[in-house]
Amino acid sequence: TTVQQFAPRLIAWQQQHGRHHLPWQVADPYGVWLSEIMLQQTQVATVLDYYPRFMAAFPNVQALAAAPQDAVLSLWQGLGYYSRARNLHKAAQQVVADFNGEFPCTRPQLERLSGVGRSTAAAIAAFAFGQRESILDGNVKRVLCRVFAQDGDANSKAFNDTLWALAESLLPPAAADMAAYTQGLMDLGATVCKRSKPLCNACPMADVCQARVQNRVAELPRKKAA
Ligand code: ADE
Repeated sequence: TTVQQFAPRLIAWQQQHGRHHLPWQVADPYGVWLSEIMLQQTQVATVLDYYPRFMAAFPNVQALAAAPQDAVLSLWQGLGYYSRARNLHKAAQQVVADFNGEFPCTRPQLERLSGVGRSTAAAIAAFAFGQRESILDGNVKRVLCRVFAQDGDANSKAFNDTLWALAESLLPPAAADMAAYTQGLMDLGATVCKRSKPLCNACPMADVCQARVQNRVAELPRKKAA
C-alpha cells in the first residue's frame, strides 16, 4: 500500500536527490536546534550565510546563554522575525538552567524550550537523536494532502489531528533512517511537490499519489478559508 511504500521510497530518493552537506547536517543538538529555528521562516540560502557566523560567535549553548541580548540580536540582524532571536536566547538559558547544559533528547522535553513547537521539536529529536517523531510543517502538509488525497479544512483542529496521525503512521521503523527520512520530507515538499507547478515527473511517489491518480494535484491541499 501507499503507507508501506512511503518511507522506503522517500529515504532512497533523499539519498539520491535530496540536499546533503548542509552545515547543520553534521551538527550537534545545539547546531541542529539553531538551524531549525533559523529555517522556520528563512530560506536555506540565507541561513547558509548566517549560521556559520552565529556558530563562530556562540559555539555552544553555554556561550549563547551567557551572551548579552544585544550581541544575539545584532547577529540576527537581517533574518527578521526578531522574536525568534529573543526566544533563542531564552531557550539557551533554559537548557543551562533546567537541563544542566545538555540538550534534552525527547520531543516533549524539547517542546518546553522557548520558541520550539511540536514540529521543530520533532525535527530536532529526529535529526540529533534518531527519535521516531514526525515533523508537520506547511510543506509536509502539502505532500500528505496530495499523496493521500486529504481534502479536509486546513483551519480545523480535527483535520490537523488527522494529518499528525497520518504523519506518524508513515515513520520508518529504524532510528538510523530518521535523519534521511525527515530531510526527505522537507526536500520533497520544497523541491518537487511545490505549491504551484509541482514536478510530478521527478516524484518518487508519482505512481501512488492519490491526488495525481484523481487528477486533483492543483486543487490539493484545499485553500484555507479566511
Ligand atoms: N527547513 C526546515 N528545516 C530544514 C532543514 N533541516 N533543511 C532544509 N530545510 C529546512
